[in-house]
Amino acid sequence: MTSTTDKDRVVIFDTTLRDGEQCPGATMNLDEKLAVAELLDTMGVDIIEAGFPIASNGDFEAVSEIAKRTKRATIAGLARAIPADIARAGEAVRHAQRGRIHTFVSTSPIHLAHQMRKTEDEVVEIILKTVAQARDLVEDVEWSAMDATRTGIDYLCRCVESAIRMGATTINLPDTVGYATPEEYRDMFRQVRERVPNADKAIFSTHCHNDIGLAVANSLAGVEGGARQIECTINGIGERAGNAALEEVVMALRTRGDVMPYDTGIDSTMLTRASKLVSHATNFPVQYNKAIVGRNAFAHESGIHQDGMLKHANTYEIMTPASVGLTKTSLVMGKHSGRAAFRSKLTELGLSLSDNQLQDVFERFKDLADRKKHVYDEDIEALVDENLATAHDRIKLVSLSVIAGTRGPQRATMKIDMDSRTFTEEADGNGPVDAVFNCIKAMVPHDAVLELYQVHAVTEGTDAQAEVSVRLKAGERSMTARGADPDTLVASAKAYLSALNKLSATSVRLHAQHAATV
Ligand code: KIV
Ligand code: ZN
Repeated sequence: MTSTTDKDRVVIFDTTLRDGEQCPGATMNLDEKLAVAELLDTMGVDIIEAGFPIASNGDFEAVSEIAKRTKRATIAGLARAIPADIARAGEAVRHAQRGRIHTFVSTSPIHLAHQMRKTEDEVVEIILKTVAQARDLVEDVEWSAMDATRTGIDYLCRCVESAIRMGATTINLPDTVGYATPEEYRDMFRQVRERVPNADKAIFSTHCHNDIGLAVANSLAGVEGGARQIECTINGIGERAGNAALEEVVMALRTRGDVMPYDTGIDSTMLTRASKLVSHATNFPVQYNKAIVGRNAFAHESGIHQDGMLKHANTYEIMTPASVGLTKTSLVMGKHSGRAAFRSKLTELGLSLSDNQLQDVFERFKDLADRKKHVYDEDIEALVDENLATAHDRIKLVSLSVIAGTRGPQRATMKIDMDSRTFTEEADGNGPVDAVFNCIKAMVPHDAVLELYQVHAVTEGTDAQAEVSVRLKAGERSMTARGADPDTLVASAKAYLSALNKLSATSVRLHAQHAATV
């Protein structure tokens, strides 16, 4: 790992795959997690929290696979202060070049009384035992005081001193409920570091939630108070309103190095790619005006701003688009583009595909170029996403036709492949989208309910591809998926089927209802 003793170096701990992934609807499959971890490692993240190994076999497998493959970053596995959790986390990070167990326990009076039902003394006993257990398994142990910001300072200091005494090398003081203000958060770090006698033996860390929109400000204030690790996520995804956004923290430190003299090891030109990858893997769209990575973050619309920009970019631009890896959308590909040009375009976009995947995506690109006048980078990215997301799907859309208009009723006729058999169905609906979804429900009966249906255009123009997001909920599990096509109804069918495929890969049983009609 990069030096953490340099006082100006702030270590970036990314928890996209743990705190980010645990928020409703953001579930990623193993391939998606591996792709995200690889990119985080390449861009210079110091510690990747890859999951919560005791939570499920899938989480365990993801953490251990990431631990085996990652070349540079430390891989952390989360564990409650429970011996079985810690053992499982230790097992998951065993093959990492650098493995960390991150164990946590609540310390605030409200959590102790209502969630843990334990006394302060009992919790200190738990800290002593569990940190020692973790330290027996790995050298690198992080201990977190959950709900630290609502914990009395005396008791917090006692817990921190105990954790460091038992060998914790990083102490994380989270604002679990997103309640602190920057001044309070900075002062908490100052006080703890001043009052705990062995504080110099550990690195202090921030972990801020964004419930009142202060996560990034609080993280930076924590650094001012002496923290040298920031826990954050790509696009700020995470529990409830999310965590501090990695791209915002990194660019704030870079852009305002004059007042915050701290470095991170992040290659900021990879931020845009990381944002897109996580958005596509989780199916969480990035808000247009999101700082650093939003579609409008570098767009200057008003006349006065455009005038200033033309005269000198610094008039309205405090960072260059290139510094976050934003290249201008280019119109480069069309129906006459060959395979070599297509391959080099993929490389330029940072997308790497196997030969089989390339063949498939190239065919789809040709098909799209026949139907759409201009093929933009975003179109190609959408094709690649779809290829990666649907590679292992059991159910695939074969064809769809819909009768719609003012005269009603709206009627859809659909053909699908499921487990290598073909099924067809016709259904009416209250509108064409409803008819399409009714077709799917008739062919593949399931209990999942539609929680979200959203359409947006991948690029501009009336021939733009529509990108549809669908979220389905089955029991406790929610899955979001996307589909893209110049035809909104085809994109809707693809998105719904993709969400069903994702659910079927986890819990929901799907039965094809009708006889095959090839
Ligand atoms: O928000 C929080 O307190 C957490 C801990 C597990 C670190 O995510
Ligand atoms: Zn958290």
